[in-house]
Amino acid sequence: MTSLQQVNPRVLGVRVSPHSTRQSLAAHITYQITKGVQKPFKKVIDVSSGDPHKAGMKPISFVRQVLAVCLYPELLHDENLPQDARLRAQKLLAACGGGSVGSYSSPATGLRYVVQNIAEFITRRDAGVPSYPQAIVNTSGSRKALTMMMKLLASGVGENQTGVLTPTPCPYTLPMLLDEAGVTLAPYQLREDRGWAVDLEELQLALKTARGCCQPRAIYISNPGNPTGHVQDRKSIEEVIRFAATEGLFLLVDEVYQDSVYGQGREFVSYKKVLFEMGEEYSETVEMVSFHSLSNGIMGECGLRGGYMETVNLDPAVMRCLVTIQSTNSPPILPQLALDLMVNPLTCGDPSYGTYTQEILFSQVTLAQNAQRAWEFLNRLPGMSCQPAMGGIHLYPQLLIPPGMIEQAKILGVEADVLYCQRLLEEEGVCVGAGCENGQTDKNYHLRLCVLVPPGTLEEVLARLSSFHLRLLDRFPLPDRGVKDRELVENSVA
Ligand SMILES: Cc1ncc(COP(=O)(O)O)c(C=O)c1O
Repeated sequence: MTSLQQVNPRVLGVRVSPHSTRQSLAAHITYQITKGVQKPFKKVIDVSSGDPHKAGMKPISFVRQVLAVCLYPELLHDENLPQDARLRAQKLLAACGGGSVGSYSSPATGLRYVVQNIAEFITRRDAGVPSYPQAIVNTSGSRKALTMMMKLLASGVGENQTGVLTPTPCPYTLPMLLDEAGVTLAPYQLREDRGWAVDLEELQLALKTARGCCQPRAIYISNPGNPTGHVQDRKSIEEVIRFAATEGLFLLVDEVYQDSVYGQGREFVSYKKVLFEMGEEYSETVEMVSFHSLSNGIMGECGLRGGYMETVNLDPAVMRCLVTIQSTNSPPILPQLALDLMVNPLTCGDPSYGTYTQEILFSQVTLAQNAQRAWEFLNRLPGMSCQPAMGGIHLYPQLLIPPGMIEQAKILGVEADVLYCQRLLEEEGVCVGAGCENGQTDKNYHLRLCVLVPPGTLEEVLARLSSFHLRLLDRFPLPDRGVKDRELVENSVA
């Protein structure tokens, strides 16, 4: 038997995402450019995944100053660094074993000081709905936490395998994560015609369909939505909670974009707050886990790999199991310290408060303005239509791909949106995501792009995308859909 045959078949069965293939191509093109190979562009711009720093957004200075001191405590006495950064670092170091970021996390569910501050943050956010440190687990990234929950939920094979109701479209990493955990993805359709809202009838339909092929035990929600940008209102959240309660489904709520809501009249309301306001019938029965992360939204510290989950109504035996799993794989210290900075921000009067608020505001304004700018621009391109986003950091425009390119894709044995993204990368050096990676299996093609990028980078992305798209339509015209498309072409060219 070869070593490959000994690999767990579940791991071998994980679907391969065209996203990783495209990432390799992007890296290869970048390498070619450094070696002097001539390309029609100077550098590759990658906006395919929500990684704002990769696209050029700057870190929050206070966060990096505190972490720098934590990593190198000699800086505690360096007066070039703001005093509040050094004081904060001192407090954080005192919370670490041996006063060093080089120690293991003890407890393995998260440093007490940090977990306490997370619980206080959640209680403040939810206007007094209490959060308890013992219900919080810190992990190296929120996907890690989600994977742990999926593995706990996973059981059975074939028709008896655990199923998780999952939105279409969903975050592009989710199908792979479910495969790896050994869980069946049971899709429910979000309503594009209603700005990608969660729809109760779609949930019921999905559950009925899923019951024929797996055992649906949980529902996954992304709110604010990745990649849709939809933000659920209270009524919609209540509907989902009632549905989960009636059907006995575990709620897995991905709320990692909670600080990135910019839609007019929209605010982030947490599932936990709504659950508790619905009364004991729900707040004491519905099992739920909510995820948050350093990676997303305004901090954008993806590379630090820090996240946490808050559990609600989790069976104590399951919680013990989670704690045991954690004890073999405790989360790193540095991201936990960064989590502390996220949930326990500077306040008015702190010496660094001015710079800190300016930097946060810059990111927030950039995100909101970019989302509006890209939405208007994409809607002017012939064959593209985009729902306005209210939160999160992506736009997800629908794309009419010309039949000529669909034919080419068939011959090459790839999805047409994947081919579109590959050609865009090769010809213009812009890396965006293809809707099929977000679980879209119908022929409604979509693109995924992160808009939390410097405004100049966004302009470059839109200009390159537009010239590729218009060239493509010259080569392979869209079927004549009448005056509207012709007008659109003329306008966008003008
Ligand atoms: C919906 C969603 N959840 C979680 C994450 C981040 O996970 P992690 O904290 O593991 O970086 C992302 C990142 O893109 C995301 O879009």
